[in-house]
Amino acid sequence: MIRDPYGRPIKSARISITNKCNMNCIYCHREGLDKEEIEMTPEEIERIVRVLARFGISKIKITGGEPLVREDIVEIVRRIRSIEGIEEISMVTNGYYLEEYAKPLKNAGLDRINVSLDTLDPNKYKMLTGCNNLEKVLRGIEEAYHAGLSPIKINVVVLKDINDDEIFKIIRKFSRRGFVIQLIELIDSNKEFFEKHHLDLNIIEEYLERISQRIIVRKMHARKRFYINGAEIETVKFIHNKNFCANCNRIRITPDGKFKPCLMRNDNLVDFLSYIRKGCDDKKLEELFLEAVKRREPFNK
Ligand code: 5AD
Repeated sequence: MIRDPYGRPIKSARISITNKCNMNCIYCHREGLDKEEIEMTPEEIERIVRVLARFGISKIKITGGEPLVREDIVEIVRRIRSIEGIEEISMVTNGYYLEEYAKPLKNAGLDRINVSLDTLDPNKYKMLTGCNNLEKVLRGIEEAYHAGLSPIKINVVVLKDINDDEIFKIIRKFSRRGFVIQLIELIDSNKEFFEKHHLDLNIIEEYLERISQRIIVRKMHARKRFYINGAEIETVKFIHNKNFCANCNRIRITPDGKFKPCLMRNDNLVDFLSYIRKGCDDKKLEELFLEAVKRREPFNK
């Protein structure tokens, strides 16, 4: 297992495979959408994950943009699955294409998914995502359940005066059948939106603490998990959260093939894709990965 200069082991990789998305969420930064799109091919993704696996990285999370807008998504999962040492593959999706893709993805080796879903109200859903697709997303979640993608995690960004009144309704709806609800604190969307809608998750946690039968603190990012009548609820707080950084064990990869040592920074990326395209050997890729690991530094110390 490899450790960064702060002693943090690197166990997982979060690979963004595209910046494209079929939705237009109000709080999303949509980074990179204006830039020329370079995306790694399935072969290139497989090659870099093989290098990571050699360093003991065993968990891969596929993200976007929206990963399911890539037509070769099933091939990407299949190729990652074929790599020795990769124990878990998960994906973050908006759920729109899950109805079609849940079974093929499961068959290709996907283990579990996180679905972004902030509201159960069709009007609010349209307002938040720009799409009239709530019903299709809910059908996709059902498909994923039946395909055996497990556990299904529902990502809910908590927004003051938009969905804070719905949190318990969402928990009730998904608390059956082993779903996990992740309540996520809003991070740097545009300033006006943030000031209006950012809600301090400590307030929600205090309430959850009172009504939970059991609470555990997960090692990953020191997230708290609450158990209420069979429901599992996690809170994800980024802001001024030292534990978030102290327990960070993941390296990120951008769609255009760069290692990203920190979620919060873009000034210390390490490009590897241009080396792959110039025909470099694996030793060079290992060096580039080690350089990215060397650049890892807690954002909140
Ligand atoms: N703040 C908090 N969470 C966000 N997400 C996207 N943008 C933001 C933001 N500004 C969430 C999505 C998705 C997860 C990967 O990140 O809802 O579920």
